[in-house]
Amino acid sequence: MLNKKLIVANWKMNPESVTDAISLAKETEKGIPKSLKAEVVIAPPFPFLAAAKKVIKRAELGAQDDFWEFKGARTGEVSPTMLKNSGVKYVIVGHSERRALGETDEMINKKIEATLKAGLKPILCVGEPSERGLTRTLRGFTRNYEMAKNYIRNQLEKDLKNISNLKRRTSNIIVAYEPIWAIGTGKPDKPEDSLEMIRFIKGILSSKFGVRSSIVLYGGSVNSQNARSFLQYKEIDGALVGGASLNAKEFSKIVVIVNNANAVK
Ligand code: PGA
Repeated sequence: MLNKKLIVANWKMNPESVTDAISLAKETEKGIPKSLKAEVVIAPPFPFLAAAKKVIKRAELGAQDDFWEFKGARTGEVSPTMLKNSGVKYVIVGHSERRALGETDEMINKKIEATLKAGLKPILCVGEPSERGLTRTLRGFTRNYEMAKNYIRNQLEKDLKNISNLKRRTSNIIVAYEPIWAIGTGKPDKPEDSLEMIRFIKGILSSKFGVRSSIVLYGGSVNSQNARSFLQYKEIDGALVGGASLNAKEFSKIVVIVNNANAVK
């Protein structure tokens, strides 16, 4: 668990120009309260990192991907060291949109190791592809979490396999639980179902990897209308926000909600 909630703006492949990126970063910065109790991370595309860095003061800089080697003949790749030297603190690794393009758990595993080695904090994204169904029981219907849990367990076991010193790096590794069917669909998960999944993820991180106080975020169609319903739970350490982070006013509302989120349950 985190003392501070963490909120990450994942701009994905937006906006189209550096001018637009600077104005979005400026507007986003303006919307961050001065008395910030949460940690805000802005993750623009690579070409806009330097420009965004100049503008953001109250937020940290994040990247959306990196490579597992540090230099050399790797056309088109960006190393964790380059990111570190550009002022980046967090790196999103294994987003489902990258996995859909062929990124494997083995690649993600190497990226996590390299990201940590460079002194950056990876945000490892995991999530099952289809919505959990209902199972008929003697007492009616119950939510069936089994398939989703098996899927996530498998991802975590592969993505974090043999990561050195994981225990000691507890506060440096963040997991984002992002059910794929909830990403960009305007159809967020039910907060209580995500809570169940996030508790499960924390359980695996603790039992399998010895990570006692893990940081796990929720992502998938988070907006200012639903942010509070996720962030009210103390086990949900923050949010990974895609679409809504492209609208500075909307994102600012989410930041204010997260900032004021008092864990009640
Ligand atoms: P979304 O994206 O908020 O647009 O659903 C979240 C993400 O993919 O990180």
